[in-house]
Amino acid sequence: MEVVICESAEEIGRHVADAYEAVLRLPAPVIGLATGSSPLAAYHELIRRHRDDGLSFAHATAYLLDEYVGLPAAHPESYAAVIRRELTDHLDLDPARVHSPRGEADDLVAECARYDAAIAASGGVDLQLLGIGTDGHVGFNEPMSSLSSRTRLKTLTQQTREDNARFFASVDEVPTHVLTQGLGTILEARHLVLVATGEDKAEAVAAAVEGPLSARCPASILQWHPHATVFVDEAAASRL
Ligand code: GLP
Repeated sequence: MEVVICESAEEIGRHVADAYEAVLRLPAPVIGLATGSSPLAAYHELIRRHRDDGLSFAHATAYLLDEYVGLPAAHPESYAAVIRRELTDHLDLDPARVHSPRGEADDLVAECARYDAAIAASGGVDLQLLGIGTDGHVGFNEPMSSLSSRTRLKTLTQQTREDNARFFASVDEVPTHVLTQGLGTILEARHLVLVATGEDKAEAVAAAVEGPLSARCPASILQWHPHATVFVDEAAASRL
């Protein structure tokens, strides 16, 4: 695993955009997207490069990590809506090729199997971007998630619901359940790129990078991956 300590979120964004740009040179790139505040600097940089430098996503397919259960896709805080607003609406990426688990599906078990099969049928993810929760979760794989798990239904911990309450009127409105790519699904991406900024992520980053490979810290799966890169600012690196 490569750990790169950067001076700012903007510098992290430029490094992540470079990694996406390398993948976009492939004939049929498959890019893995994440929501949350951590990827935003990278998304701003990708939008800038698309606008100013002609970086094209026209031949790309995108898969999102996770989605809330029970929010209509049109709800402004559904991850399908968030990724359109923050990134894909600003690129030449065909909306029909931006995929996310359907948290409104009648049969959630079938939906999860369909999602994993769709990723596989696309040839697998070339670059998966990851944030990290304060409890070490990636996607919505909370602590004690199976290291070989596939896309599935999960219950959020109270800590994650409280962390995400800032996007809703109150913590009570944060959905209790989600669909998330499993840790086994995420491990199949060819390059994993994790980004974290700020002191409140320092403990989780230290557990992921220097702790044991353990379901107690789902982000520690990066230690097991042949090509994983972690971009952090000095605050997020402060416990390393
Ligand atoms: C959510 C998302 C994760 C994200 C995490 C951290 O729980 N499901 O994918 O990494 O939040 O979010 P942030 O980057 O806003 O701290």
